[in-house]
Amino acid sequence: MMNCILICLLCGLYGVLAKDKEHKGKYSVPILDVKTQQLVVNTNQTLLLSCRGRWELIWAFPSGLARDQVRVEESRCGKRGQQHCSRLTVSRSQAQHTGPFRCRYRHRPRKQNSVYVYVTDSQQPFVEHPGMSPDVLYLREKEPLVIPCRVTHPNVTTTLVKFPNHSLSPDQRNIIWNSKQGFTIRTPTFYYIGLFFCQTITDGVTYMSQKYFVHRPVSNIMEVYLNSSGPVQDLKGKRLVLNCTATGELNTRVNITWDYPGKINNSGFTSKRLLKHRTHMLFYSILTIPKLQRSDRGLYTCRVTSGEKTKQQKVTVTVYDRPFIHLKPRHGSVMEAQAGQKSYRISPKLRAFPAPEVIWFKDGMVAAEQCSRYHMDGNSLVIRDVAEEDAGKYTVLVRIQEHGLYQNLTLTLAVNVSPQIGEKAVSLQDPGSVPRGSRQALHCTSHGVPPPHIQWLWHPCPSKGL
Ligand SMILES: *[C@@H]1O[C@H](CO)[C@@H](O)[C@H](O)[C@H]1NC(C)=O
Ligand SMILES: *[C@@H]1O[C@H](CO)[C@@H](O)[C@H](O)[C@H]1NC(C)=O
Ligand SMILES: *[C@@H]1O[C@H](CO)[C@@H](O)[C@H](O)[C@H]1NC(C)=O
Ligand SMILES: *[C@@H]1O[C@H](CO)[C@@H](O)[C@H](O)[C@H]1NC(C)=O
Ligand SMILES: *[C@@H]1O[C@H](CO)[C@@H](O)[C@H](O)[C@H]1NC(C)=O
Ligand SMILES: *[C@@H]1O[C@H](CO)[C@@H](O)[C@H](O)[C@H]1NC(C)=O
Ligand SMILES: *[C@@H]1O[C@H](CO)[C@@H](O)[C@H](O)[C@H]1NC(C)=O
Ligand SMILES: *[C@@H]1O[C@H](CO)[C@@H](O)[C@H](O)[C@H]1NC(C)=O
Repeated sequence: MMNCILICLLCGLYGVLAKDKEHKGKYSVPILDVKTQQLVVNTNQTLLLSCRGRWELIWAFPSGLARDQVRVEESRCGKRGQQHCSRLTVSRSQAQHTGPFRCRYRHRPRKQNSVYVYVTDSQQPFVEHPGMSPDVLYLREKEPLVIPCRVTHPNVTTTLVKFPNHSLSPDQRNIIWNSKQGFTIRTPTFYYIGLFFCQTITDGVTYMSQKYFVHRPVSNIMEVYLNSSGPVQDLKGKRLVLNCTATGELNTRVNITWDYPGKINNSGFTSKRLLKHRTHMLFYSILTIPKLQRSDRGLYTCRVTSGEKTKQQKVTVTVYDRPFIHLKPRHGSVMEAQAGQKSYRISPKLRAFPAPEVIWFKDGMVAAEQCSRYHMDGNSLVIRDVAEEDAGKYTVLVRIQEHGLYQNLTLTLAVNVSPQIGEKAVSLQDPGSVPRGSRQALHCTSHGVPPPHIQWLWHPCPSKGL
């Protein structure tokens, strides 16, 4: 009785453990029916692979194999059909089907198992993809270079050839051969820039792989600019478009990224363009914010990176809720100038958006039409060679017609004129001698603004004959 209980307990325990093992360990990755890591099949032979697992399965196979050349059958299997089985069939294997076949769980991409299949073809030792020659490879500093001349049989030996005929054999130090990958150059020098191919000799016949053009991408950004040198202002609800242009040396590749306040909300989208010139490359990235919000104001940065080089440009964007005009005098509404002054500038304080139209009037008439000495400089009115007649009322009219906004401001200009004595202009006549006791009138005519104050001074004549 006791024994039975013990045994039963053990059995039960074992059952639990076994079940647990099946849940945790077995089929934590799908299982392939082939137990080897590689498989060699002949051309035209049928390739059959089976996979089994706990969840739904999918296959990944070499890119040389088109989807319609593969048949996949799925079924439930296992004791109570609680497992998933998948059978892959390639009825006529070809050399270009050589590569890794992977079975994985659909919803657990990293839980996978694979087998590398060689489809041998004595006529075609290299795995080729028609229409891919020459393939362009990039040589990057401090990165291994892989010349992907994979082969259709694990035992094929090859040499790497630099065009036209310089051979390199694997040395297991810097030049590594792997039938599944091709040649790896661990630390490539500039020698590896150029045209390469792989070569093998079977039964006295020389076979060449496709050609690979090894190219060193340069990363030289010459200039980055935004199509707005100054700050950008716009109205709420408007569309904002910023154009970032980068120029680089030929063969440069760049990444252009934007940083802006609305980025976290995806309030904008970008589009890009590339133009190749004879001497340089042009890259464009255009950022569009379809409807500006208040929260979109701030700093916009266009960052261009190429390899380890970075250049950037920034612009500030201001968003106004509505159009406006702020107009007021800079220092009171009465101004003073001096006749004869080289120039005088009338410039009220003006802030407005969008850019307004500004017209100046002098005593009710358009200023520029009234006198050739008046001209506008920005929003200011400048008077050249200030004269007395320039005194008067100046009105600036500011308007944004499309939004029906108008404002005006009238300023008074006083022109001071230094006093002049009219008699000084005519040659002084010697009054001569006048009889003692007679009545004499002396005249002084003067002009000035403000009216001058006249004061007479007398001083005795120097005594004669002294
Ligand atoms: C594969 O089959 C095709 C068509 O039947 C035939 O032309 C070809 O020679 C076969 N290839 C090999 C290597 O047997
Ligand atoms: C490759 O060569 C090794 C010996 O060098 C041999 O044992 C092996 O069977 C060969 N593999 C194939 C698939 O022919
Ligand atoms: C490579 O080609 C050049 C000319 O095409 C020839 O002179 C040279 O002997 C060749 N070298 C080898 C190793 O075949
Ligand atoms: C803006 O980008 C376009 C490309 O879409 C380009 O043709 C144009 O010259 C750029 N304008 C400026 C001012 O950078
Ligand atoms: C920048 O360029 C784009 C596209 O060429 C244009 O739509 C936009 O108005 C320009 N922006 C500025 C601020 O000039
Ligand atoms: C992001 O969106 C939220 C909700 O629409 C808004 O309150 C916030 O201001 C936005 N922030 C930016 C930086 O656009
Ligand atoms: C651009 O960015 C991608 C991903 O961030 C990176 O893989 C690529 O190397 C970058 N290209 C250049 C030219 O910097
Ligand atoms: C200036 O504004 C006033 C009202 O503020 C208006 O009556 C007057 O007509 C305006 N003058 C001009 C020249 O528009």
